[in-house]
Amino acid sequence: MAWTPRRLETPRLILQPTGEDDDRAGLDTWLQQRVGLPNQWRIISKALDRVIGIVGFIRWEPERGCAEIGFGLVKVASGQGLMTEACRAVIDYGFAEMDLSRIEARCQLANLASARVLEKIGMTREGMVRGRVHSKVPDEDFWLYAIERGVTGNDASSGC
Ligand SMILES: CC(C)(COP(=O)(O)OP(=O)(O)OC[C@H]1O[C@@H](n2cnc3c(N)ncnc32)[C@H](O)[C@@H]1OP(=O)(O)O)[C@@H](O)C(=O)NCCC(=O)NCCS
Repeated sequence: MAWTPRRLETPRLILQPTGEDDDRAGLDTWLQQRVGLPNQWRIISKALDRVIGIVGFIRWEPERGCAEIGFGLVKVASGQGLMTEACRAVIDYGFAEMDLSRIEARCQLANLASARVLEKIGMTREGMVRGRVHSKVPDEDFWLYAIERGVTGNDASSGC
């Protein structure tokens, strides 16, 4: 991707562009092993002073003003609203500074926590994306979520 994300900050998190601080690289092993995760921002917990996840855009189509957000969090940090906080910051950045007009996300049908995060950040479930069942390694089915710029619900100050 031909753009350099900048450092973002939320009340509990620092979103640090990957590659900015190589001392953190050793903490990213879990994240690097997860195929399909984005690689733009490490999520650093201010309270723990360690990397707890990753967030960013796994697909970006500048000519359409459209991108797809993806994320992953270590288990120990889950259930505290942290991914919701991180995603809101990235979505605000995408609309304000990447000139996006639409941000999409896909989540596995059984990933209820992920679906809930997408709903909390104001995304709408638009439908199901069917996996290719006839390929040698069949893809899974996904829910497709999306939010468009200016749509009510993407209110970074709203509660979790
Ligand atoms: C899914 C994931 C991102 C959630 O992060 P998180 O910081 O725990 O999310 P939040 O705390 O902001 O919100 C989680 C919500 O899901 C809900 N939830 C959690 N487990 C659930 C379940 N089994 N069924 C229904 N809801 C569930 C929580 O109650 C919470 O909703 P609430 O605030 O209304 O109570 C994180 O667990 C993760 O990275 N998992 C592994 C990788 C992954 O799934 N990536 C996403 C790919 S699309």
